[in-house]
Amino acid sequence: MNRPFLLVQLSDPHVGADWGDGDSVARLAAAVASVRALEPNPDAVLISGDLADHAADSEYEKVRELLAPLEAPLYVLPGNHDDRLALRRHFGVPGAEDQPVQYAADLGPLRLVVLDSKRAGEDRGELDADRLSWLEATLAAAPSIPTLLALHQPPLVIGIPAFDEIGLPVEDRRGLGKVVEAHPQVRRIVAGHAHLTMSAELGDGRSSQCRARTSRRSSTSARMKPSFPPSLGALPCTHCWMGRSFRTSNPCSSRVGNALSRRSAAPLRTPRC
Ligand SMILES: [Fe+2]
Ligand SMILES: [Fe+2]
Repeated sequence: MNRPFLLVQLSDPHVGADWGDGDSVARLAAAVASVRALEPNPDAVLISGDLADHAADSEYEKVRELLAPLEAPLYVLPGNHDDRLALRRHFGVPGAEDQPVQYAADLGPLRLVVLDSKRAGEDRGELDADRLSWLEATLAAAPSIPTLLALHQPPLVIGIPAFDEIGLPVEDRRGLGKVVEAHPQVRRIVAGHAHLTMSAELGDGRSSQCRARTSRRSSTSARMKPSFPPSLGALPCTHCWMGRSFRTSNPCSSRVGNALSRRSAAPLRTPRC
């Protein structure tokens, strides 16, 4: 490959939210502007759920309008605030009706696999046997292509009770870990939902996670302890595939983009970002 592959992750814009201390529309607009400021432009943009706060058509229409300036291919997945049917109407995601929104996309040097962790009618997530079977079969179909796996609820213990109550059950996390351990091509797992950025190891430690957010607070923030770290801004997270490994940065800054741009002027032998 001649240059790194840059996938930008946005998450949890919650457009239409009337809680928190920020304007969800302004924050997503600012996040989009920061992505557009990257040079070179991202190769793909992932939005890891909770696009709209009430799953209203008007909210998704606003999300589409705000995302329109992005030139890179856009990939979305459902969060607990989203409606699968609405996502299908507004973003054309694969599948039918209220079936899980799950798909794989060939991004060139990378494969993106989207897994649906939404549990109907609840904020906590789930990865049932059918979804894990789908994941197993999907990963088995391309065992040699470096893969980024994306879902909404992070498959780890956050350490913040309010979020762990609406996370993935331990047995579901273990089930995911078992599948991932059998597929070493999964090089990164990314999620949303927690509105903060952290990383951890899953299973045998080959995979880590990053969460990005564009909303300052979640709808559960009122139940959080005062020690919950405050959100600092609406900046995206960048996952840069270097050919052999990922470099993940958050927040995304123009300096990251500038560094990429300078290095892309010449063939990259030991690329960095
Ligand atoms: Fe959220
Ligand atoms: Fe969420």
